[in-house]
Amino acid sequence: MLNHLKIVLIVSISLILISCGSEKKEETPQNQSSAEVGADLTEFEFENGIGPIKEKLELGPIDPKLVKKGEEIWNQKCIACHKLDERYVGPAQRDVIKRRTPEFIMNMMLNPEEMQKRHPVVKQLLAEYMTPMTNQNLTIDDARAVLEFLREVGK
Ligand code: HEC
Repeated sequence: MLNHLKIVLIVSISLILISCGSEKKEETPQNQSSAEVGADLTEFEFENGIGPIKEKLELGPIDPKLVKKGEEIWNQKCIACHKLDERYVGPAQRDVIKRRTPEFIMNMMLNPEEMQKRHPVVKQLLAEYMTPMTNQNLTIDDARAVLEFLREVGK
């Protein structure tokens, strides 16, 4: 009888220990949450960002007129936070056309808030730069012009 009690006791203690162990595992929120960010994105959104640009753009040869318009907008709305060749409030932008797709760049210009919340790459940038890029209220045409400017400087 006493032996029987001992076994019951040992079994219950081990069960308690096991359940404590597994509770600890559930408490590693950092790894889990970063794996979950982006899980709801389509493959297109992952590559090209989230926003009004939902299809691949057809980009022709660089249009110098559009570059000029884009440069003006860049000087008014972007240089407060970006330089071409150096990290500033945000990342250097000369090479952005090489590290992101054109559609990603446009969606970031047009929809930064949602990109910061839902896109894992931008979430990571926000964690690194610790300042949210603000929405500059560009039209799609404005953003397209700035993209042309970034294509030109990143050639
Ligand atoms: C208030 C400062 C601020 C302004 C204004 C701003 N940005 Fe940003 N930008 C940032 C920061 C900071 C990041 C990094 C992501 C974040 O923290 O939101 C960023 C990220 C980006 C990215 C993401 C891709 C990458 O790898 O660099 C692009 C593209 C971009 N900005 C372009 C622009 C353009 C073009 C303009 C002007 C229309 C602009 N930004 C205006 C601060 C700014």
